[in-house]
Amino acid sequence: MLQNIKSLLKDIIPEDKIGLLRHSYDIIGSKQKSVAIIEIPEPLKNYETDIAEAIMQIHKNVVSVLAKESKRDGDFRMRDFRLLAGDEDTEVIHKEADCSFRLDPRRVYFSPRECSERDRLVKKVSEGEEILVMFSGIFPIPIRIAKKFSNLKVTGVELNPYAYNYGVENIYLNKVEDRVEAILGDVVDVCPNLRKQFDRIIMPLPKGAYRFLDIAIPLLKDSGIIHFYHWGREPDLFAEGENLIAIASKKFQKSVEVIERTRVSQYSPRVWKIRIDVLAKSL
Ligand SMILES: C[S@@+](CC[C@H](N)C(=O)[O-])C[C@H]1O[C@@H](n2cnc3c(N)ncnc32)[C@H](O)[C@@H]1O
Repeated sequence: MLQNIKSLLKDIIPEDKIGLLRHSYDIIGSKQKSVAIIEIPEPLKNYETDIAEAIMQIHKNVVSVLAKESKRDGDFRMRDFRLLAGDEDTEVIHKEADCSFRLDPRRVYFSPRECSERDRLVKKVSEGEEILVMFSGIFPIPIRIAKKFSNLKVTGVELNPYAYNYGVENIYLNKVEDRVEAILGDVVDVCPNLRKQFDRIIMPLPKGAYRFLDIAIPLLKDSGIIHFYHWGREPDLFAEGENLIAIASKKFQKSVEVIERTRVSQYSPRVWKIRIDVLAKSL
């Protein structure tokens, strides 16, 4: 696809600059309506509208092209976007596996690139479990799990009201309302009042999930599992995260055994998004 875009632009962008076109851009949505999200390198800023229009020409379902304008920031893990071409209305229904997720990337966190990580998570779940997904966003993880298993319960907690509202809509869109409960609020306020314990707790907030370990660990049943996300730094990607889990577990008289270490995706040359899966037992 990038090759097609480059050939459309070969008479517009000078040859020494065209190679700077990013190797990938994200497309969120469906065959009917999608939004493309692209990072324009500085030397190509003068050609950004041409690039956006080329993307729309190649992908006929792309109705809007958004440029990334900032890094992800704040509690909601959002970034700024600028509309380069197309429609102001950037709400789409994204298709992933056999699920549909309604969302507006300008209002909520969502990454289509995390599909394969969601595939991996779903495979770890078993029928009958009680699961807590902290930081649920628009609920892609609870819904992917609930779609595959008919006899389990997933509770999801989300702070961003836009994401929570999309989450509730997505639960009904995917017909999993009998097994997914959505709660709006801060994990710190909501979770200690849940009055139940879980077989599995998922903590998909690499920037700062460790701050919530003291809340997660007491909510785990004996021999429950935590899927903990963290920014791992080279040379030892997992050491810091494992240490944080061990310290928190000790406070609650739990012993933890690491059952899996996963490099999820590379964030920068020496930093990776990682997942550490631990089994926690009462001492
Ligand atoms: C990295 S995003 C992941 C979203 C979702 N799990 C996904 O896979 O698309 C983290 C989410 O956690 C939410 N969040 C951040 N701090 C929170 C808190 N203290 N309590 C509840 N949700 C929080 C953000 O609004 C954001 O939607």
